[in-house]
Amino acid sequence: MTLRNKQIVIAVTGGIAAYKTAQLVREVQAEGAQVRVVMTASATSFVAAKTFQALSGSPVAITDNGLFDQAGMDHITLARWADLIVIAPASANSIAKLIHGEADELLYAMCLAHEGQVAIAPAMNQQMWSNVATQENINGLRNRGFLIWGPADGAQACGEVGPGRMLEVSELLQLVLSRFENTAFAGQHIVITAGPTHEAIDPVRYIGNRSSGKMGFALAEAALAAGARVTLVAGPTEQICSPRIHVIHVETAAEMHLAVFQQLDDCDLFIACAAVADYRVANIAAEKIKKHSEHLSLELEPTEDILRDVKQAQPKLFCVGFAAETEHTIEYARDKLVRKKLDMIIANQVGSSEQGFSSDYNAVEILTADSQESIARMRKTALAPKILDAIHQQLLNRKENSNVRYLKKSHST
Ligand code: C5P
Repeated sequence: MTLRNKQIVIAVTGGIAAYKTAQLVREVQAEGAQVRVVMTASATSFVAAKTFQALSGSPVAITDNGLFDQAGMDHITLARWADLIVIAPASANSIAKLIHGEADELLYAMCLAHEGQVAIAPAMNQQMWSNVATQENINGLRNRGFLIWGPADGAQACGEVGPGRMLEVSELLQLVLSRFENTAFAGQHIVITAGPTHEAIDPVRYIGNRSSGKMGFALAEAALAAGARVTLVAGPTEQICSPRIHVIHVETAAEMHLAVFQQLDDCDLFIACAAVADYRVANIAAEKIKKHSEHLSLELEPTEDILRDVKQAQPKLFCVGFAAETEHTIEYARDKLVRKKLDMIIANQVGSSEQGFSSDYNAVEILTADSQESIARMRKTALAPKILDAIHQQLLNRKENSNVRYLKKSHST
């Protein structure tokens, strides 16, 4: 969901390729964006406004009739609302109007009033595209900072073959995604643990916990979207993730410990989100334990503390822990932060179905040695990028502080 929280206007002008734009609306929305559709009057003779209204779940703006602005200045409201305007298809006529800054329809007035980027996906007959007038207009728009997406070469609706086909929806989607790629962790290797661990009692039973892995998997996706190479060391969970994430499946705390340590050489950030068992059975039964007596005692021994060991082995590595507590959340979390010498800890209250362990939602406090930030209850998929933002901010602060220290030092020598 790379386009989460993004607001995108998809603007449709008069061209047969408009039927493909209906699919583009769906796919951009599927990536998490909010979409509003704007049409020229001529576009409505190719695809009905109602089609786009139904798909986008929002009225379609064609004229300044106050759908989005009570004062009737919809073109201004939409221009301010949009993080990106994509004109698809962009007809030869629309391109000519844009280069001249015309504003005789809402779509063009909105583009004039928009401070951010406008992308255009031209679609027209190959001769119209090759015409010097269109080429000059396109070059002029490119020089003004418009993004020109396409056109492609190939068979055209008019029966001719040549340049002028609108790019395929999948290609347009990739281009939209590329505008919002977050590069906060570009090129960095982030190792994340997720899910519970299962500690065997005998060949058929284990000690486990209610962790679903949802938070850790959401963090892995968010780290991927922020440009990182991600290794996810996951305990038993049903979660699935992008094939671009390197997942190492483990079962026990000992296996998780080993897998994490094998990833540490080039690791830039370690996030321990897993709910690792604190104890394991000291003597795992080789055969299924039979029901012989009223009482059965299991002897438990402590597991490896992965997070503490990682920080000990690599004191300079930025390490983030999680503290899932049922009471005294902040107090216990702060204690963990200090005890395990962590750089950050994410504290959350568990024990209710409203948030935490198996829920899709969570509310957290982000603690560092000298800061505390609350993030209200939201979907884990929305929370994960916020946690990564907070980590990124801390890393930037540190870099700045060490530069200041360095500067002071070099001044004093
Ligand atoms: O002290 P406590 O176990 O509650 O600390 C929780 C944090 O430590 C979590 O980030 C968890 O992933 C990590 N942890 C770990 N290895 C353990 C126990 C906890 O990495 N054996």
